[in-house]
Amino acid sequence: MSRFWSPLVQSLTPYVPGEQPKLSNLIKLNTNESPYGPSPKALEAIRQAADDTLRLYPDPVSLGLRQAIAKRSGLTPDHVFVGNGSDEVLAHAFQAFFNHGEPLLFPDVTYSFYPVYCGLYGLPFETVPLDEGLRVRVEDFNRPNSGIVLANPNAPTGIALGLGDIETLLSAHPDRVVLIDEAYVDFGAESAVSLVSRYPNLLVVQTFSKSRGMAGLRVGFAIGDPALIEGLVRVKDSFNSYPLDRLAQAGAQAAYEDEEWLTTCVNKVVATRDMLSSALGALGFDVLPSCANFVYARHIDRDAASLAAALRERAIIVRHLKGPRTSSWLRITVGTDAQCTSLLDALKDILRRND
Ligand SMILES: Cc1ncc(COP(=O)(O)O)c(C=O)c1O
Repeated sequence: MSRFWSPLVQSLTPYVPGEQPKLSNLIKLNTNESPYGPSPKALEAIRQAADDTLRLYPDPVSLGLRQAIAKRSGLTPDHVFVGNGSDEVLAHAFQAFFNHGEPLLFPDVTYSFYPVYCGLYGLPFETVPLDEGLRVRVEDFNRPNSGIVLANPNAPTGIALGLGDIETLLSAHPDRVVLIDEAYVDFGAESAVSLVSRYPNLLVVQTFSKSRGMAGLRVGFAIGDPALIEGLVRVKDSFNSYPLDRLAQAGAQAAYEDEEWLTTCVNKVVATRDMLSSALGALGFDVLPSCANFVYARHIDRDAASLAAALRERAIIVRHLKGPRTSSWLRITVGTDAQCTSLLDALKDILRRND
């Protein structure tokens, strides 16, 4: 606390990102990064862009990247907004669309950055409890709101909602923005981008951080009706005109155009995820059906915090989230086969020793 802080800054409860340890010998399964990294074509594009032109500002509207994203979905660049990670895109969306006096709605168990943005922008919110199976029940969102935010697949559960349910929400709340955060969609859920041309109240947010293995480049984007995109641009141009630098624009565009790399990496992650889920089940874990690049699991009789601590002693880090409905669960990022095998061996050892 400092006397120089404004009352708003004093009141904030900032998001706490998963740890990024300096030690290189750790098996890092705590922040849902890709074990495979960026497309070699993206790395080459970044190398090419690292030249004397860095003295010039980048394209403030990232047109080449937006065109590449729009083309894939049969939309125009006016339907696409890009930002410095999807976290920045989400922040701008919260500021642009969710201040209508009523509470913003999102599930009680979801990405824990959402309430943080509400704190930053002074937005009232209500959390809607997931059902006993930790699933979203769209009927429960039928109450007055300023907007609805759903991660699909949800994080940290990994459970996906079908497009039918998303359409139900969009039709039930035509005067409110329904934001679908698709950070993990490529790993097995159906994208709502196909609904954008029919629902002017739909905003879909995606990222290059997970399936495209570029969390370090910080690129995210939103797809929606041009009027929504214009709202985001108004916020962006009142905050930072150049959110994506030259290297990020070049790398992200080349990555987006390399569908083959994306498919190869996603297929490997999905195969490892299925192996990991069934092996955890055999060790006595209850594992939710994941459509993401992580699994959410709790042991039938072992405490999650102690399991995470015992794994850490063996140089493996997973995410344990405190909270009434999450503290008995571990969120484990799907790494390579070798990393997941090491995790399973460590868990067998921990469970056998009872430590
Ligand atoms: C559901 C969800 N949305 C958004 C993000 C932010 O991703 P980024 O800012 O790296 O694009 C994350 C990161 O973990 C996430 O889990």
